[in-house]
Amino acid sequence: MSRPAKSIHGQWTSRWAFILAATGSAVGLGNIWKFPYITGENGGGAFVLVYLACIAAIGVPAMMAEIMLGRRGRQNPIYTMRTLAKEEKASPYWKYLGWSGVVAGVLILSYYSVIAGQAMAYVFRSFSGVFEGVTPDGAQSIYATLANDPERLITWHTLFMIVTMGVVAQGVKNGLERSLKFLMPALVVILLMLVAYATNTGTYFTQSLHFLFNPDFSKLTGQAILSAMGHAFFTLSLGMGAIMIYGSYLPDKTSIAKATLTISAADTMIALLAGMAIFPLVFANDLATNAGPGLIFQTLPIAFGHMAGGAFFGGLFFVLLVFAAWSSSISLIEPAVTWLVENKKISRIRACVVMGVGTWFLGLLTVFSFNFGKTWTIFGKTMFDLLDYLTANIMLPLGGLFIAIFAGWIMKQSSSEQELAIKSPIFYHTWRILIRYITPAAIIIVFLEVIGLLA
Ligand code: PFF
Repeated sequence: MSRPAKSIHGQWTSRWAFILAATGSAVGLGNIWKFPYITGENGGGAFVLVYLACIAAIGVPAMMAEIMLGRRGRQNPIYTMRTLAKEEKASPYWKYLGWSGVVAGVLILSYYSVIAGQAMAYVFRSFSGVFEGVTPDGAQSIYATLANDPERLITWHTLFMIVTMGVVAQGVKNGLERSLKFLMPALVVILLMLVAYATNTGTYFTQSLHFLFNPDFSKLTGQAILSAMGHAFFTLSLGMGAIMIYGSYLPDKTSIAKATLTISAADTMIALLAGMAIFPLVFANDLATNAGPGLIFQTLPIAFGHMAGGAFFGGLFFVLLVFAAWSSSISLIEPAVTWLVENKKISRIRACVVMGVGTWFLGLLTVFSFNFGKTWTIFGKTMFDLLDYLTANIMLPLGGLFIAIFAGWIMKQSSSEQELAIKSPIFYHTWRILIRYITPAAIIIVFLEVIGLLA
């Protein structure tokens, strides 16, 4: 099968449309919900430093590679890998790289939707003034009431899945471009407001900067390094074909390098802002830094509960968080849906129903992990923890490793040079060295370290 000149699913209207959509995919629960809580669990500064190093040395080159493969293949990740492997006279088994991405996307969306559902529930709690004057204990118990109630969690999870699949059914490009144009800036503004509010906590703000940016390497375990690397993939939506499929809708002329730098800078900035907004509250209210997935739900209401107009701003914040999650979810399921459409020749709507229902059922595992299924554990992890660990810490970095190997070693230099079309030879060669040596070596070293082979 030869490479199609265009994706059958259409094309972005401009470079900015792509940058917005890819930033919409990258910025999500990962930045605002997950980054703060895993930073808290892993002791702060040293973890943040490793995460930033992974973004620069692994994330940026891998994102360029993934967009490049997508644009060259112009199909769902499975077909793209199959076509490109054939063109480069490599093994047809490369298509399994596409497969692992499709599966990872479904697994991630299953729990992502449950958390996004919790954020939806908080929109209503906030607007209705429930958080006014709330104490830290009160905030914890409001969260516990929600998390302990499977019926409510299922209701919100269902609603979120419907909204996500509704957009995917219409084709990713319709609607997404228009709404993201104002959502992204609004999210940044409200995060800045929260950071400004956090500066009022005085010494706690300084303490939190210290916590986030002053590395204490004694807290850095092998698992923490793996989480930092896994999170670099998760937060940039890499290693599973999401950015690849968005790359497949990219017009020929767009500069992949510039787009990548813009997307990763925006994503990193938003995560750091979220950290700076949340940790001062954690310290000022004597909360545990390692509160886990409930962290933002237990801290931010305290801030909103005590600021002027807090019910409104809190509601708005959670609305924006839901939108950020929604624009990421769309990209999580897009590889699976495009595969169904291209492979089974069924309509987009049907493909969405099939995938949506399947993912919804899988999401129940996460719903129950927060309440009566807390004790269903494998290797000491709840179903939610297990899904998260398996996808973010294993499947995405492994996907990234193989994407790097394909882009750096299997693809001819002339192919990647042509597709990336970077004007400066120094810049192109830096990318090539990173993707051939540094990115794969870093991923392999972290894996070996974790399984104890480097000890
Ligand atoms: N990057 C998203 C976030 O940080 O919330 C999550 C995500 C989206 C991961 C798409 C992977 C993906 F393919």
